[in-house]
Amino acid sequence: MMELQVIWLIRLVVACVLCLCIFIRSASSATEGFKSIACCADSDYTDLLTTLNYTTDYHWYSDKRGCRQIPDIVLSHRSNENVRMFDIDEGKRFGVTELGEVRSSRLQDFEIEGVFKATKDYIDFCVLKEDVNPFISQLELRPLPEEYLHDFDTSVLKLISRNNLCGTKDEIRFPVDQNDRIWKATSTSSSALPLSSNVSSVDLKGSVTPPLEVLQTALTHPEQLVFIHDDLETDDYEYSVFLYFHELNSTLKAGERVFDIYLNNEIKKAGFDVLEGGSKYNYTVLNISANGSLNITLVKASGSKFGPFLNAYEILQARPWIDESNQTDLVVIQKMREELLLQNQDNEALKSWSGDP
Ligand SMILES: *[C@@H]1O[C@H](CO)[C@@H](O)[C@H](O)[C@H]1NC(C)=O
Ligand SMILES: *[C@@H]1O[C@H](CO)[C@@H](O)[C@H](O)[C@H]1NC(C)=O
Ligand SMILES: *[C@@H]1O[C@H](CO)[C@@H](O)[C@H](O)[C@H]1NC(C)=O
Ligand SMILES: *[C@@H]1O[C@H](CO)[C@@H](O)[C@H](O)[C@H]1NC(C)=O
Ligand SMILES: *[C@@H]1O[C@H](CO)[C@@H](O)[C@H](O)[C@H]1NC(C)=O
Ligand SMILES: *[C@@H]1O[C@H](CO)[C@@H](O)[C@H](O)[C@H]1NC(C)=O
Ligand SMILES: *[C@@H]1O[C@H](CO)[C@@H](O)[C@H](O)[C@H]1NC(C)=O
Ligand SMILES: *[C@@H]1O[C@H](CO)[C@@H](O)[C@H](O)[C@H]1NC(C)=O
Repeated sequence: MMELQVIWLIRLVVACVLCLCIFIRSASSATEGFKSIACCADSDYTDLLTTLNYTTDYHWYSDKRGCRQIPDIVLSHRSNENVRMFDIDEGKRFGVTELGEVRSSRLQDFEIEGVFKATKDYIDFCVLKEDVNPFISQLELRPLPEEYLHDFDTSVLKLISRNNLCGTKDEIRFPVDQNDRIWKATSTSSSALPLSSNVSSVDLKGSVTPPLEVLQTALTHPEQLVFIHDDLETDDYEYSVFLYFHELNSTLKAGERVFDIYLNNEIKKAGFDVLEGGSKYNYTVLNISANGSLNITLVKASGSKFGPFLNAYEILQARPWIDESNQTDLVVIQKMREELLLQNQDNEALKSWSGDP
């Protein structure tokens, strides 16, 4: 058994009961614990852009009849050009945490990312049929720093947005980001101004710190910076908001750029000064319960010489972690499955059953 109390990120690209059991394995390299599965890929391969190694899913599904190619136009930044479609009966939901919903059978570039705490040495991931046959192209599992779950130990955090403000590259991920978080370049149409600098900073420590490349650009405004996300689900959910600051104006001193941080008109931090702690970098994690929309506003504090700025931010939505089968029970049942298989070698239903009741 390996160390299990670690935080994991699972990312599904293009994605209703069909389960895949992924075993969490330890190794010793920069990509320790990384698991990348490419559906219907002819063989295992290395992604040239990220240098990440992908495993084909033929180990689980040897059948090629469900394989389809993604049209070039919708394939942005993804190395696998195949998807696997599952022609299965409508399923029932039990003992699962829902992460997202795909509403159309049109193949599109669509990603779902969730963060959870691993309490066992494997994770079950399921796609459930509702209106359309489920399909999936890539499945990625990554270890993450513990700070992500802070107060949300018993939740699964679904990524809503991860933004690199004024970034010059569409996407920044591994190997620049050792955690392989995907930072999307974002600009806003508001009157905010870009800030950038190629300063290299020696004090960028901390496990959740975004890569320097992400922190080299920022947005600023003389009075207030506003970021609105009004396409959230209309129901009450708890959200975790990560804000990352790296002062790019090297001549500024502590006390010259001070601001208040609001989430949905609620003041969450007053008089925030990045330089106060003696470092040019700081980050803050804030909590808010929201229904439908989230308004992140940074307002210049009275007496401050300069307006607020922000380099990057992440929004994660908390969903309850629904406990599935007990591991001891599962091990017993998997053993039973193996014995049943020995006696019924041609039983397809048994072969495709992971053993999770
Ligand atoms: C991919 O596999 C190759 C060969 O085993 C290895 O040299 C390389 O480091 C791996 N890439 C990553 C990102 O781990
Ligand atoms: C954030 O939310 C969690 C879970 O609802 C709660 O336990 C915690 O007290 C909250 N923290 C803050 C700073 O609001
Ligand atoms: C960025 O780097 C280039 C080349 O190293 C240098 O000429 C330029 O002055 C730098 N800009 C800033 C804002 O530091
Ligand atoms: C969330 O907002 C929607 C639309 O404004 C409303 O119909 C719904 O009752 C709200 N839900 C909760 C839990 O407040
Ligand atoms: C940087 O700060 C100095 C004051 O210390 C100010 O004069 C200058 O305009 C600032 N530069 C930017 C790009 O904000
Ligand atoms: C966002 O929040 C700020 C600060 O509370 C407020 O001034 C602004 O009107 C809000 N914007 C929207 C669109 O709700
Ligand atoms: C970040 O800000 C907090 C206060 O919000 C402060 O306690 C902490 O020391 C700062 N960290 C650094 C590295 O300056
Ligand atoms: C799992 O089940 C076994 C036996 O049924 C029990 O001894 C164990 O405490 C259970 N573990 C958890 C985490 O519930």
